[in-house]
Amino acid sequence: MRSELASERIAARGAGYPTVRMRRLRRSEPLRSMVRETELRPSDLIYPMFVSEGREPRRPVPSMPGVCQLSVEEALRDAEAVLSCGVPAVLLFGIPEAKDELGSQAYAEDGIVQRAVRALKGRFPELVVITDVCMCEYTSHGHCGVLRGDEVDNDRSLELHALTALSHARAGADVVAPSGMMDGVVGAIRSLLDAEGFEQISILAYAAKYASGFYGPFRDAAGSAPAFGDRRQYQMDPANGREALREVALDVAEGADMIMVKPALAYLDVISRVRQEFDLPLVAYNVSGEYSMVKAATQQGWLDERRTVLELLTAMRRAGADLVITYHALDAARWLIRAEGA
Ligand code: PBG
Repeated sequence: MRSELASERIAARGAGYPTVRMRRLRRSEPLRSMVRETELRPSDLIYPMFVSEGREPRRPVPSMPGVCQLSVEEALRDAEAVLSCGVPAVLLFGIPEAKDELGSQAYAEDGIVQRAVRALKGRFPELVVITDVCMCEYTSHGHCGVLRGDEVDNDRSLELHALTALSHARAGADVVAPSGMMDGVVGAIRSLLDAEGFEQISILAYAAKYASGFYGPFRDAAGSAPAFGDRRQYQMDPANGREALREVALDVAEGADMIMVKPALAYLDVISRVRQEFDLPLVAYNVSGEYSMVKAATQQGWLDERRTVLELLTAMRRAGADLVITYHALDAARWLIRAEGA
């Protein structure tokens, strides 16, 4: 019976206060860390980067303090910092000079992401390079696929998403991450990659991606706000939890190697449910709005940045995420290294 009271449970086991004192194991840091259930390490983190064709080498994103749009050269510089603090992977987004109806720069062999991947893997072969596979940064209308009338045409978009993933694989990406929430996209990418000899390239599926207000700052950073309407026809309704399990099951069946829940903070319950049902590596995306929210409060002096960020990232791990994609990755890794050394 679920209604069993905690005090009854304790009584049934024959122990309670004053025999049991929960505070005993909290008395000192070595003791606390010995009984700590959840670990957060730099190697659990993935750092997102925006690579841009724009002329400015480092263009700050106003709504994301500390985040910049980067030239390929600057991306190399940041990647070095990423590796030096123990973060193993980056997630790349591209900001092209020109956009069109079909988002052709998304799958151009010499597109910005493709060039950045070549440069990064050339300089740092050990860096795990993950690429976001989507069209919204590349289409003139800002939607994640090809339009038919006012709707995104799912099946016509699949080929372009698959071609994008293939061009990333050819450039040397280790992992491709489809984020457009097109039905069947994982299967479409898997079969094209396999047909072209890239059966070793993994797919990180943005499996349960919600239509979230927390993507606002990202759309500033990537210039990818939809020109009309919103993304509710393809991204999930924030009210739905069971549906996330169906989304994940489908992506797993289509060949996903890793699965993602996005955003993270308002969806810790979804992370936890997915963790209980699936054994694949699970990734939480601590998205732009979650980052900016913390930044804004810490800049006001209302919250302590180090404490709140580490608490939030630990919560995502505790909910069941193996890995966390976060704009705070560099800061967090440095804080963790310092705490370890202290
Ligand atoms: C592209 C994409 C988005 C994000 C990741 N990939 C934006 C969106 O769906 O509108 C959001 C990431 C963030 O907010 O940090 N489809």
